[in-house]
Amino acid sequence: MKPICSVQDFNARIKRVLVTKEEIDAAISKAGKEIDKIYDGRPILLVSILKGAFVFMADLCRAVSVPCEIGFMCAKSYYEGTVSTGVVNITMDLDQDISKYHVVIVEDIIDTGRTLSDIVKLLQTRNPLSLHVITLLDKPSRRLVDFKADISLFTIPDHFVIGYGLDCGEHFRNLPYIAEYQEKEGN
Ligand code: IMP
Ligand code: MG
Repeated sequence: MKPICSVQDFNARIKRVLVTKEEIDAAISKAGKEIDKIYDGRPILLVSILKGAFVFMADLCRAVSVPCEIGFMCAKSYYEGTVSTGVVNITMDLDQDISKYHVVIVEDIIDTGRTLSDIVKLLQTRNPLSLHVITLLDKPSRRLVDFKADISLFTIPDHFVIGYGLDCGEHFRNLPYIAEYQEKEGN
C-alpha cells in the first residue's frame, strides 16, 4: 500500500459509508442489554482483540451494567494492505487468570474466521467459567474456518472496510463510522 500523504489522499480512500455512527450506537446499546440479560448480574471479563476492537470495546464496556473487568490480547493477521496472509500470531496475551471469569471476547470483524477460531481454542484451554464471542461486523461470505459469534451486530458484504477501529495500513481507525475502502490503482 502506498503511504497516505495528504488529507485529499486520505478522503479519496473512503468509498462510501456502510454503517453510520448512529447505527453503531444503537446496535451497541442493544448488545449491552443482551449481555446484561445473559449474565444476569454475574461479573464478566471483556477481552478486546487489539488493535481493531479497541473502539468497539470502549463503547461496549459503557453499554453493559453487569460488573465488568477489561482485558486485552493482540492478534496480528499479517494483513498486507487489504489481503490477509493467513498467519495469525498472538503478540500480546492477557494478564488475568481467566479460570475465575465469565469471558466475553470482543472482536471488530470476523472475516476468514481464523483469528477467533485460534483465540477461542487457546482460551478454552485455560478453563474460563464460560466463553462467549461478540463481534461488531461479520463477513460470512469470506469464511475459511467454520466459526460463528454468539452476538454479531452487523453482517456486511465482501468489501474491505475501514473506520471505528478498523484500519488499512494503520490508517482510518479514527473514523467514527464504518466505510468501504477505495482501492487505488497500483496497490
Ligand atoms: P480473520 O482471521 O480472517 O477472521 O480476520 C480477522 C482480523 O482481520 C480482524 O480482526 C481484522 O483485524 C482484520 N480484518 C478482516 N477484514 C477486515 C476489513 O475488512 N478491514 C479491516 N480489517 C479487517
Ligand atoms: Mg481484529
